[in-house]
Amino acid sequence: MSEPRLTRLPQWQALQRHAYAIGQRHLREWFAADPQRGERFVLEDVGLYLDYSKQRVDADALGLLRELATARGLPQRIEAMFRGERINTTEHRAVLHVALRAPAGEKILVDGHDVVADVHAVLDRMAAFAEQVRSGAWLGHGGKRIRNVVSIGIGGSDLGPVMAYEALRAYSRRDMTFRFVSNVDGTDFAEAVHGLDAAETLFIVCSKTFTTLETLANAHAARAWSVAALGDERAVAKHFVAVSTNAAEVAKFGIDTANMFGFWDWVGGRYSMDSAIGLSTMLAIGPEHFHAMLAGFHAMDEHFRHAPLERNLPALMGLLAVWNNNFLDAASVAVLPYEQYLKRFPAYLQQLTMESNGKRVTRGGAAVDYATGPIYWGEPGTNGQHSFYQLLHQGTRIVPCDFIGFGQSLNPLPVQGGGDQHDLLLANLIAQGEALAFGKTAEEVRAAGTDAALAPHRTFPGNRPSSTILAQRLTPRVLGTLIALYEHSVFVQGVIWDIDSFDQWGVELGKQLAKTTIAELTAKDEPKLAHDSSTNALIRRYRALRDGHT
Ligand code: F6P
Repeated sequence: MSEPRLTRLPQWQALQRHAYAIGQRHLREWFAADPQRGERFVLEDVGLYLDYSKQRVDADALGLLRELATARGLPQRIEAMFRGERINTTEHRAVLHVALRAPAGEKILVDGHDVVADVHAVLDRMAAFAEQVRSGAWLGHGGKRIRNVVSIGIGGSDLGPVMAYEALRAYSRRDMTFRFVSNVDGTDFAEAVHGLDAAETLFIVCSKTFTTLETLANAHAARAWSVAALGDERAVAKHFVAVSTNAAEVAKFGIDTANMFGFWDWVGGRYSMDSAIGLSTMLAIGPEHFHAMLAGFHAMDEHFRHAPLERNLPALMGLLAVWNNNFLDAASVAVLPYEQYLKRFPAYLQQLTMESNGKRVTRGGAAVDYATGPIYWGEPGTNGQHSFYQLLHQGTRIVPCDFIGFGQSLNPLPVQGGGDQHDLLLANLIAQGEALAFGKTAEEVRAAGTDAALAPHRTFPGNRPSSTILAQRLTPRVLGTLIALYEHSVFVQGVIWDIDSFDQWGVELGKQLAKTTIAELTAKDEPKLAHDSSTNALIRRYRALRDGHT
């Protein structure tokens, strides 16, 4: 199962030599040597235009990266995923988020069973339920229609739904309120239900396992809040639905499994926003838009599966990420959507990328001797420009950037004197990529009249790589395509690094230790502590602060 050691592969070593040879060459030189570079180093398909000409690669680097992908068996690994093989080896599971958006009638078998039929059965139930709620046919316990939806979940059971709701708000029911609770901090719950009428409020409890501490605590709080306001335990039947793979735990919580929407162990939490975990999305935008989003995902799935490596968007993005990470030593990636509706997209991508590829051993369990998943972070433009872009332009670290923008605004806003604020927005996106790539030399600064002492401060080194992704307009379909682009790019990186991108053992230790700590924090008498001296002192100090003893 385990691949040969990555760093010993001739393709890897050839890339190292090539990176050494071209590493310091400036993007100014690349563009001067090839005036058509900005039109040649682009790839357009399934409604997305990717300009990667400002990445520090030449055709040879790209060729070597593709050879590396072939040596790592990328085409075969893609097929294995689509065929439903158990490529999540440490959990012995298939990885079939692509089945969530496969059209009805397509067949994908897991243990001889067609999962696409199951997917569509759930989608149909979700649509019927969404229509009932949206039309007012589904009534709360006291006979009022549902006007508020509060989705409770965390991680993959929250970040996707929140991101999609924010992204597609323009398509949502404006006469309904959608809120999200994730944090176990009581403030999150308190603020989410603030001002809501319990008689008009539906809770969706989203948890793949239905055992997650935060989600269960918030679900219990929600039930207590509902029942206290509505004065009847039976209200739960009309005000709570669950999304989970664990019917037994859902029933134990007290939600009738008739009000449960299922999914399957072959859907990873961070790959689940297009499963029933997206019920809040469907309630907000309606089944038709939800299906358009699924079609967008599917279009990218098909492209990823069938496009040759040299014309394959996720393969290219994944390989560029490997190049920047391993050959240019860039430890992080900034995702910079110039689209306010995508304000939660970087947060969503953080889980997708870092829970997937933040691994230090190969699938076979050997320690890696190369860097794996970079740190993803970001904020919408133009806001970030007035905060952290200083470091992007003049700091000592190289941070490759993904700029994302759209040709048309969903909220055009004319500017006095002509044009639209959208032009201002996109001018900034385009200018930032240009400034990062080409910078401003000391000579240019001095020629502009800056005095010698200030010149170093006003010089921009440039040669900072970025990609720009453009689409016509942010629609449900385009959102699906964009998310699938990143999902598959993450997969490509994991294949090169020979890691299991679909497990997440790294989240376990903290959870386990918290159980002991909870008991120690809540013990009536001063507990006997056996941690290290820092942990012991923090527990004592917290207890004292909480109890007002300091
Ligand atoms: O702790 C990490 C994690 O397991 C994520 O992988 C997952 O998305 C999240 O917790 C929530 O899990 P669940 O949907 O089972 O509540």
